Amino acid sequence: MPFAKPHKTLIANPQIESRIRALAAEIDAAYAQAAPVVLLCVLTGARPFFEALSAALTIPHTRASVQVSSYGAVGARLSTGDVRIVQPIDVPLHHAHVIVVEDIIDTGYSMRTVLELVDAQRPASVAVCTLLSKPSRRVIDVPLEYVGFSIDDHFVFGYGIDVDQQYRELNYIGYFE
Ligand code: IMP
Ligand code: MG
Repeated sequence: MPFAKPHKTLIANPQIESRIRALAAEIDAAYAQAAPVVLLCVLTGARPFFEALSAALTIPHTRASVQVSSYGAVGARLSTGDVRIVQPIDVPLHHAHVIVVEDIIDTGYSMRTVLELVDAQRPASVAVCTLLSKPSRRVIDVPLEYVGFSIDDHFVFGYGIDVDQQYRELNYIGYFE
């Protein structure tokens, strides 16, 4: 057992992997004529999803990353509107077709900040691809082109998503009851 606290599986690994293949096929079709395509990883949580999605794509693309932080104190569960830029976008996006890859969209504050950073570089197009979305928690209405799974309001972890920096290594999505 990776950890002792009892928890439930919300989305098992085979389900995640098959959903990623389906998302990649959709993106391959939508971007067949687009160039250059840049996949932008929102660190740190999106990393495993980003790697799997990038590997499943057949269209040529380059990779970039950005890191923002919306949770203040360790243990805090409430996103605040003030999102800190920890690492700015590391490659120029001007004229690129940008696909922002995120682990989970909760209130939408973090993604709003990321989209402002992307838009400031005047890309050719922008789309958001998130593994998980919690629509019932949304405060900011961010446009989501590709959603892996829409979930109920559970505090989840695994597949890159942490609880106080732990459990990112799990290959499935879990939650505490
Ligand atoms: P938002 O700014 O409220 O949309 O929150 C987005 C960020 O909050 C995500 O990238 C995660 O880092 C974190 N987050 C939101 N919901 C959860 C959750 O259920 N478990 C763990 N982290 C979460
Ligand atoms: Mg995130």
